[in-house]
Amino acid sequence: YDTKTPTSSTADKTSFAYVSARDRWPIIITGAIDDVYRAVSDTTEEPKRTEGKKIIEELAKFKYEIQHDRKLTPLPDDGYPDIASYNKELEQLGNPSWFNVPWLFSECYVYRRIATLFSLSQHWKSYDVFARQKMSTFRSSRPAVLELASRYHELITQLEKKETKTQEEAEEAEKLLFMEMCEICLWGNATDLSLLTSLTYEDIQKLQGSEARKASEKNILVNDLGDAYEVLKKAKKDGKERRVDIVLDNAGFELYVDLILAGFLLSAGLATNIILHPKSIPWFVSDVVPSDFAALLNALANPQSFYSTPSDEEKNAGKTPQPLTQKEVDELSFLFSQWSMFHAEGQLILRTNRFWTEGGSYWRLPATAPQLYEDLKQSELVIFKGDLNYRKLTADGMWDPTTPFVKAIGPLGPGSGINILALRTCKADVVVGLKPGEDEKLRAMEGGGGDSGARKWAWSGKWAVVSFSAGR
Ligand code: F6P
Ligand code: MG
Repeated sequence: YDTKTPTSSTADKTSFAYVSARDRWPIIITGAIDDVYRAVSDTTEEPKRTEGKKIIEELAKFKYEIQHDRKLTPLPDDGYPDIASYNKELEQLGNPSWFNVPWLFSECYVYRRIATLFSLSQHWKSYDVFARQKMSTFRSSRPAVLELASRYHELITQLEKKETKTQEEAEEAEKLLFMEMCEICLWGNATDLSLLTSLTYEDIQKLQGSEARKASEKNILVNDLGDAYEVLKKAKKDGKERRVDIVLDNAGFELYVDLILAGFLLSAGLATNIILHPKSIPWFVSDVVPSDFAALLNALANPQSFYSTPSDEEKNAGKTPQPLTQKEVDELSFLFSQWSMFHAEGQLILRTNRFWTEGGSYWRLPATAPQLYEDLKQSELVIFKGDLNYRKLTADGMWDPTTPFVKAIGPLGPGSGINILALRTCKADVVVGLKPGEDEKLRAMEGGGGDSGARKWAWSGKWAVVSFSAGR
């Protein structure tokens, strides 16, 4: 069930896989150490402190193993069945070391291994080592959050008014809005925390505003949004139940924009219910776990108090946050009441599955997670958010970049029974569906990689691909 195409490896010095293993993972683990250190200092329970210090030691040891190119060790059994498959794969790979291992598998291993340190503890079982960072970045995306809340409020009010328009005008408007909502949702992904090791908060804020979005339209290299819209429009015309699934990526701002899209689809009748798929364990730093959803709704339930706590960089600059205006509070409360109503009525729900945090690609979905596969077939459209989901769809293969998307996703392509839309900002080497010559052109641009052999343009989150596959 795996692709025969060679996959990205940390051994390839021109790849982002190599840069990740050499630079990014040690930084990410250092961040985790700092976080547990803070949590230990904040608690007075002695047994918890002792155990926390032990976790810090384990994390430090883990970082050492990566930096010194040791072998990946079998994961300790924490009671979940995926451990056996991780360890089996490790064996099949011939017990590789850190700088000669498939990127996708080893990066999943990093987060699964960190998770075992907590799941096997007594006092830190449900501790999310990345939660602090996720919330703090959400705080610092305040300008974009407020801008979108206001835009959303305006838009939903318009939709509800259903002003006198011809059918055609109404459809045209709906399509444009759909595209805009999806683009917001797409660029919301440019801000994931595992890349923060190279972006400043200012960069992030710039990436989020509407100006930035317009300017970025030309950076969408493949744009199949029109096809996805046709699917939903048709289902709406047929008047049947129509479910849309979103395989989530990051918490905070990205989850916020995912909910904006979800709310829009429901309000416009393009979907009758939405199923969100978060991760079951802290994953790739910023991915959504169910408690992030709760935390986001909580923040919106009481926005004034949420925003009265300074974000980390405000703290560092000695600034106190401005209180929100009444209009801002009202617009955020509007979001909160809409989303909690959808949630309460069962139109917007979360569904977890351990498949999402296994070490393999989504080529394995039909064979290793048949129930989830059947479930997803019930959906009109399954939207996959972000870079990692795209890597998993395309098996992190080193495809020729002109390979059609529908081919690169293997068993999930035509005939799979699933309509797939991938909204991805490029943060890794794999990319497919490009026009002939496009990769070369991008490489020749400044910072694009030139003739170094590296596809550097695809690492920064500045470019995006929106790809659709009709599976049913
Ligand atoms: O390329 C950097 C990286 O951290 C990859 O390791 C990973 O695939 C991706 O970004 C995570 O990004 P996203 O949150 O968009 O999936
Ligand atoms: Mg992510």
